[in-house]
Amino acid sequence: MTTMESLIGLVNRIQRACTVLGDYGGVDNAFSSLWEALPSVAVVGGQSSGKSSVLESIVGRDFLPRGSGIVTRRPLVLQLHKTEDGSQEYAEFLHLPKRRFSDFAVVRKEIQDETDRITGKTKQISPLSVLHQCYAQDLNLCLLGLLCFAVVNLTLIDLPGLTKVAVEGQPESIVQDIETMVRTYVEKPNCIILAISPANQDIATSDAIKLAREVDPSGERTFGVLTKLDLMDKGTNALDVLEGRSYRLQHPWVGIVNRSQADINKNVDMIVARRKEREYFATSPDYGHLANKMGSEYLAKLLSKHLESAIRARIPSITSLINKTIDELESEMDHLGRPIAVDAGAQLYTILELCRAFDKVFKEHLDGGRPGGDR
Ligand code: GDP
Ligand code: NA
Ligand code: MG
Repeated sequence: MTTMESLIGLVNRIQRACTVLGDYGGVDNAFSSLWEALPSVAVVGGQSSGKSSVLESIVGRDFLPRGSGIVTRRPLVLQLHKTEDGSQEYAEFLHLPKRRFSDFAVVRKEIQDETDRITGKTKQISPLSVLHQCYAQDLNLCLLGLLCFAVVNLTLIDLPGLTKVAVEGQPESIVQDIETMVRTYVEKPNCIILAISPANQDIATSDAIKLAREVDPSGERTFGVLTKLDLMDKGTNALDVLEGRSYRLQHPWVGIVNRSQADINKNVDMIVARRKEREYFATSPDYGHLANKMGSEYLAKLLSKHLESAIRARIPSITSLINKTIDELESEMDHLGRPIAVDAGAQLYTILELCRAFDKVFKEHLDGGRPGGDR
């Protein structure tokens, strides 16, 4: 494992511990600032713009509920890890700590069931997040060249879509509620925003771009993703957007062709979908010249590179935060003495150890590591 990989692995474990500890309250000052220093990736956009589909393609596994209407009704915090060599892929939920899922169709059903349990079988939303861990096996099993993502552990967040009107069964406040919920994630300076806009709607109407521009005016953490290129009216194309003439972003736009609803109904799998997407760009008269900068795989690589440099850039500030956190944790442990909540005490202890390990790896990285030289 490279230093960068172990650092990112530790980032993930601390994030997970912080999420668990979030429930205990009281000790969350140090953790919330730590949490805020660590990068994550969230998908933002209008309802049915293709957010869940994009996230799924990045991960390279079929596990998210997708479809028309409000399907994603709760934020889903997803942590990707690399499994030990040779072990099987599996997923775990925070709400079912002892259960390992190796069938991703069952994972999708559990996300749906848990959403139904929390929100009822309604069209309402809930701010509680399901922490869902998805263990990707190794380079070979992270299919179709998602090599970068297979080595980088990562937090991804699927969010409900922004809407304009409440539909039957929803309270009037839903439009604002969703926006407020989405904002709490994307406002954080560490959040990398995948701003998803469908190509079959005018970019000037994009909710994703509107919100991203508000929370990230410089655009340094926003990636513009244009989905549904295959659904544009005949005789039109999205070159003005993709080449940055309609709306210029700091990072280049990436065009995507996800599975259609008919593909989903026919259970077209990820490998086939990827191949079709590649073929679409390679053979397209409009986008052929951009083919190697389009598609889900390219987006995954772009993100992975960005994430790595974001983590590198934050090393000094994370190091000082960790040191502060270690101090706070130690005095918290002193205070607790005989912890009232045994679990909380144990969690604190785990985090303390994680922080120390983190600090140690950082120091080694800073002392011995040539920047960018460990790959
Ligand atoms: P979300 O509501 O933003 O999470 O969007 P979903 O990922 O659930 O997708 C909504 C619907 O749009 C589903 O029926 C998808 O099959 C369809 N869809 C998403 N992206 C594309 C695309 O690039 N092309 C086509 N043809 N359909 C897409
Ligand atoms: Na949808
Ligand atoms: Mg969705």
